[in-house]
Amino acid sequence: MRAVAPGRVNLIGDHTDYTGGLVFPMAIDRFTTIDFDRWHEPLIRLRSHDEPSEAIVQLPSSGEGRGWARYIAAVAHECAAVNGITGEISTTIPIGSGLSSSAALEVATLLALGFTGSASELAQTARRAEHRATGVPTGIMDQLCIASAREGHAMLIDCESLELEHVALPSDAQVIVQFIAKRTLEGSQYSQRVQQCAVAESLVGALRLAKPDSIAAISDPTIRARARHVITENQRVRDFRRALRHSDLREAGRLMNQSHESLAVDYEVSSSVIDEAVAKLQETPGVFGARMTGGGFGGCVVALCENSANIEGWRVSAARAAHLA
Ligand code: GLA
Repeated sequence: MRAVAPGRVNLIGDHTDYTGGLVFPMAIDRFTTIDFDRWHEPLIRLRSHDEPSEAIVQLPSSGEGRGWARYIAAVAHECAAVNGITGEISTTIPIGSGLSSSAALEVATLLALGFTGSASELAQTARRAEHRATGVPTGIMDQLCIASAREGHAMLIDCESLELEHVALPSDAQVIVQFIAKRTLEGSQYSQRVQQCAVAESLVGALRLAKPDSIAAISDPTIRARARHVITENQRVRDFRRALRHSDLREAGRLMNQSHESLAVDYEVSSSVIDEAVAKLQETPGVFGARMTGGGFGGCVVALCENSANIEGWRVSAARAAHLA
């Protein structure tokens, strides 16, 4: 049997999901694949084309493991797996690039272990496994996108209600992803950003409901800037959806550029190499807009471009959700 899970790229709406905000990702045509057999041993035994050591997890899983096996152990723990699998993993998602290789691994492993819940339950279980494996308090965007994507569509997700709307991608534009630098959120300032948002919310209430002028009540300039990013980014996601509905690609691109500026200046999760790559893209004819994508501190940039533009990078198309094949 085979479990397949795509990676994802976020078009707009970063560092909003863990405050119940809005995001706009799409699953991409790069995949993690597990070819497996179910067996009667209470044991998971997986090889990976990208890792020297096997992942061996005794069931029921304690949730703990070393190296990449910690993801498998965490997933098995979260879904209380009792029946083992044996198999082989390969991926075309560059690992540690900010395209959700870990979320794809978690979701594919859950499917291989026989998870039968809804897409939303699949995503929430995978997210808990990510927290257990990495200790980083990430949001729901990556797992929910991977678990529920529709081919040819991006999606607007309300990370509070987990409601999502599939939005067809315009046929007169292409999405280009450039890989800039390997990174990991473990040991990054991601967790600190989550805490800073919690501080802001203790002062002004839920950021997803706050208005731009409510941040005046925050005296600390750093916390105020973090809150300003989240509030304005949520609005940009709404505006981006409207722009796509009206086929206004220039406006969609302008919002992506603004999003990058906000992530770089107010949220401070970009880097000089990422800023340079984004600036170069933004100046290139045929590019509507460009921004960093995902957690930041390295990773990838994404650009919305005219179909005819010849832009360096991977032209990605919107893939369907994770599934058994
Ligand atoms: C990482 C996390 C997501 C989200 C993004 C930033 O990808 O896994 O939950 O917070 O960063 O938008």
